[in-house]
Amino acid sequence: MTEREAMELCLELARKGWGRVSPSPLVGAVLLKDGVMVGEGHYAEFGGSHSEVVALEIAGANALGSTCVVNLEPCSHYGKTPPCTDALISAGVARVVIANLDPNPEAGGGRQVLADAGIDVEAGAMAEEAAALNAHFLWYHTRPSRPFVAVKLATSIDGYIADSAGDSKWISGSEARNWVQQLRAGFDAIAVGRKTASADNPALTVRGKITPRHQPRRLIFTRSGQIDANLKVLNTPSRGPAGVVKVGQTGLSEGDRGPDGHVQWSHAESLVGAFEDLRKQGVASVLCEGGASFAGELFRADLVDRMYWIQSPKWLGDGVRAFCGLSAGTLSEAKSWVVTERRTLGEDTLLVLDKELCLPAS
Ligand SMILES: NC(=O)c1ccc[n+]([C@@H]2O[C@H](COP(=O)([O-])OP(=O)(O)OC[C@H]3O[C@@H](n4cnc5c(N)ncnc54)[C@H](OP(=O)(O)O)[C@@H]3O)[C@@H](O)[C@H]2O)c1
Ligand SMILES: [Zn+2]
Repeated sequence: MTEREAMELCLELARKGWGRVSPSPLVGAVLLKDGVMVGEGHYAEFGGSHSEVVALEIAGANALGSTCVVNLEPCSHYGKTPPCTDALISAGVARVVIANLDPNPEAGGGRQVLADAGIDVEAGAMAEEAAALNAHFLWYHTRPSRPFVAVKLATSIDGYIADSAGDSKWISGSEARNWVQQLRAGFDAIAVGRKTASADNPALTVRGKITPRHQPRRLIFTRSGQIDANLKVLNTPSRGPAGVVKVGQTGLSEGDRGPDGHVQWSHAESLVGAFEDLRKQGVASVLCEGGASFAGELFRADLVDRMYWIQSPKWLGDGVRAFCGLSAGTLSEAKSWVVTERRTLGEDTLLVLDKELCLPAS
């Protein structure tokens, strides 16, 4: 196995922590000796053993003189577990290959500690792929003013998110819909515009293989405050916290609040202000699941960092356009987003696009 192949495997292993380790990073580690893998590990649970330590335990005496390939700089501090740098040094690892340096000031600095101990250290291998994988974590430590915001939309081939009657339920196939359940597990909050909440009445919960460490907070955005008290999101407290975010000059009135105390109502004068407030409340990542006008407003406010775009092979001809209210641009001025993933989900195609990568220095 080459170091490149080992890093690819690290990224695969790291993904296994999705939904279980936030706000910590997704990390995988592989130990190579003479091109043969002698240990592997991933960070599986928040506060649990780090990937390097898991890999070292598997390798045992084979760790001596090996190369540790890991997608994030090994930690050098006493956090919930002792420093991985100590474990690597005492096991006699000869070389460490890192994708991203750790921007967390408490845990970073491991590269220098390893180099000072005489270990050959290389940083920056597959840095872009690793940064896309850990976008939430990197954003959290480098841009603290608001959460990382992703928009997920399923469109027909011709760019509609619902038919002319507003029906969007079966645009994507079952594989894509199951995948969305898993996607939600890695976000602190899921948000929709009030009309999607009314039209589709989604529960916005995580179901399926992953049980998230925390059920994401489910949020309905509104300007009017006219929320139907019977919506599923507002009536399923056992399936995660729920909130209504009212945006605009007029604050909350008595009539806004529903009768049930478990729904958190909040108010902000602007959309940006609402997201800044969420960050202050500890929400580090938000997945917006439409609809068109709410997503369009997020784009207009420059609040979208990532798009999960599910393209279905269905042709609608007319319907609800994917984004509303955006001004027209020219091709020569168009900004290209970074494609960080492309794959099939049954008959649908998933495209993951980042506005820009949050790349830590290497
Ligand atoms: N295919 C897909 O992936 C997908 C995903 C989601 C939805 N859909 C479909 O899309 C349709 C709904 O889309 P839509 O564009 O009509 O409505 P929408 O975006 O879901 O909701 C619009 C409402 O959201 C609130 N809102 C919008 N911008 C806001 C802001 N800046 N701050 C606070 N609140 C804000 C307002 O609520 P108030 O009116 O209460 O002020 C607004 O009327 C439905 O047919 C649904 O089935 C498809
Ligand atoms: Zn560590």
